[in-house]
Amino acid sequence: MPISNGHAFPGPDGIFLETRSLSRSDLVQVLEIERQGYSHPWSEGVFLDCFKDNYRLWALCKEGGLIGYAVVAYLVDEAHLLNLCIHPDSRGFGAGRYLLQYLVDKAREDGMVQVLLEVRVSNRTAEQLYKSAGFGEIGCRPGYYPAANGREDARVMTLPLDK
Ligand SMILES: CC(C)(COP(=O)(O)OP(=O)(O)OC[C@H]1O[C@@H](n2cnc3c(N)ncnc32)[C@H](O)[C@@H]1OP(=O)(O)O)[C@@H](O)C(=O)NCCC(=O)NCCS
Repeated sequence: MPISNGHAFPGPDGIFLETRSLSRSDLVQVLEIERQGYSHPWSEGVFLDCFKDNYRLWALCKEGGLIGYAVVAYLVDEAHLLNLCIHPDSRGFGAGRYLLQYLVDKAREDGMVQVLLEVRVSNRTAEQLYKSAGFGEIGCRPGYYPAANGREDARVMTLPLDK
């Protein structure tokens, strides 16, 4: 279900950021950002599998160029945040926080009652972002992620969505 209306806000550096739906034609850039964002990046096939009615794929653009994206699966009334990634050159000025807030607002508008996510226990940057956005830790999934030396645990975090 493409949602073409963008939404812009003036970034902290005075440049407008714009959100829109991600499309398959973005995948070359997405895969480039993905490879720089994760030790175990998603493949193109994994992204392609997410272009389904119950998924929301969001693009964050700066001056027309893709600088980040998010992938969210809607499962009954729960929004599962599967991927949130910002290009390394665009980190640290509020883009991640903005895209997170955007997808949370959209999930609320779409009738979801909570957002759930997993994050590597070693990913303190993302953990800080989620905590500062109001997410609380509700548990742990042991060995959830592949890691350089075996497996790594995931924190499970949720954000209840007020109506
Ligand atoms: C996690 C990620 C999305 C954050 O994006 P970002 O645009 O750099 O984040 P923001 O500038 O919006 O910062 C938001 C908050 O994140 C935290 N944060 C950002 N950079 C941080 C750092 N280097 N160290 C610790 N916390 C950090 C802070 O709480 C920050 O809030 P503050 O500026 O008020 O202190 C980005 O680092 C990224 O894409 N990482 C690789 C992919 C990834 O790990 N995704 C999450 C998977 S669960």
